[in-house]
Amino acid sequence: MKMTLIKPALTLENKDFSYPIYVHEDALLSVGDFVKQAISEKKYSGCIIIADENVSKLYAGRLKGDLGESLKLEIKLPAGETTKSITHLEKICEQILASGIDRQTLIVALGGGVIGDLAGFAASILLRGIPFIQVPTSLLAMVDSSVGGKTGINSAAGKNLIGSFYQPEAVFIDTAVLNTLPKREFKAGYAEVVKYAFINDAKFFAWLEDNKEKIFALEPQAITHMITTCCQHKADIVAADEKEHGARALLNLGHTFGHALEAENNYGPELLHGEAVAIGMVMAFDFSAHLGICSAVDAEKVKTHIDRVGLPTKVRDIKSLRGLNAEKMISLMFKDKKVKLGRLRLILAHAIGESFVADEVKLDELQVFLEKTL
Ligand SMILES: NC(=O)c1ccc[n+]([C@@H]2O[C@H](COP(=O)([O-])OP(=O)(O)OC[C@H]3O[C@@H](n4cnc5c(N)ncnc54)[C@H](O)[C@@H]3O)[C@@H](O)[C@H]2O)c1
Ligand SMILES: [Zn+2]
Repeated sequence: MKMTLIKPALTLENKDFSYPIYVHEDALLSVGDFVKQAISEKKYSGCIIIADENVSKLYAGRLKGDLGESLKLEIKLPAGETTKSITHLEKICEQILASGIDRQTLIVALGGGVIGDLAGFAASILLRGIPFIQVPTSLLAMVDSSVGGKTGINSAAGKNLIGSFYQPEAVFIDTAVLNTLPKREFKAGYAEVVKYAFINDAKFFAWLEDNKEKIFALEPQAITHMITTCCQHKADIVAADEKEHGARALLNLGHTFGHALEAENNYGPELLHGEAVAIGMVMAFDFSAHLGICSAVDAEKVKTHIDRVGLPTKVRDIKSLRGLNAEKMISLMFKDKKVKLGRLRLILAHAIGESFVADEVKLDELQVFLEKTL
């Protein structure tokens, strides 16, 4: 049985692995073809869908129809970050093993970053590794978590502390599913989009500035271009540095500030990850300007763009964070797992599109900056 699959928008390729990333308005429809073709070639023996309840209700039906008898099991999990837990991991592993799998059983992770991270991690440890594909449905998952192979769950000691590097077999991004994504989630995902521009692509920033109305109106061509550009950036970075020994660290732009804010907020609903990263990126550029290594004009451009798309730009925008002071912020920043050997490593910038890893951040400078900013 030979089917014609849509062409991938790009391929993530490095010396150890290579996989296609499809970005298409109807990519969901191709999942069934992909799976059935691979089954006919004896690559997979069957598949299992894992989704959260929101996404399952909206999209699992479409997949199920196409997968037919190749679908062996469907798992529905509660929506939300608390699902990325050891309890849910244990439950789904037992459920999957009880269903009778082999090393060729494929897991289909259908959903946002929570499901992608959890299902990917389960795939990496079941029978010491079974194949999985990512079918991301949130903007954040499409441009960030579904590509690159970081999988995992949260621990009482912190977020994402139990996990593995485990690459998917393919990524299917159906841009049409963004129509049902809550607007606040879309905006939060957009913070990770513009992050790529701030890191190393000033041209992409100019394009985002010119096209933000089309993007927020979900105009298909603009959305496809935006997502493909982000995936290409992520793929390039991961291909060069899968395990974050070097360039992959740039993806943490805004994240050490942002993670501190999320921790201070106890990961509550007042502040989504992307919102924390939006504030964190403004802080990273402001701090760079404060140090005299980036122009105030660029720092202002970053803030204006983030504000115009409706994301928060400062800590005081978030009610629950109004009591945060410089000392507490610094101690929270030191708890971030990106801190190396007690030294604070931050991603700073010389300009929009020229970010770099600053390994020896001077704490007294940071303290002065935070006292001025918070
Ligand atoms: N692995 C990585 O490299 C990586 C990178 C960034 C973030 N993450 C992780 O990703 C997670 C956050 O992901 P997220 O923001 O996608 O959260 P999420 O998975 O909780 O999804 C957000 C919400 O949107 C709903 N949803 C998703 N797609 C939808 C759609 N098309 N229509 C309607 N509702 C939809 C979900 O049910 C959920 O309620 C965090 O756990 C974070 O640690 C991982
Ligand atoms: Zn992030």
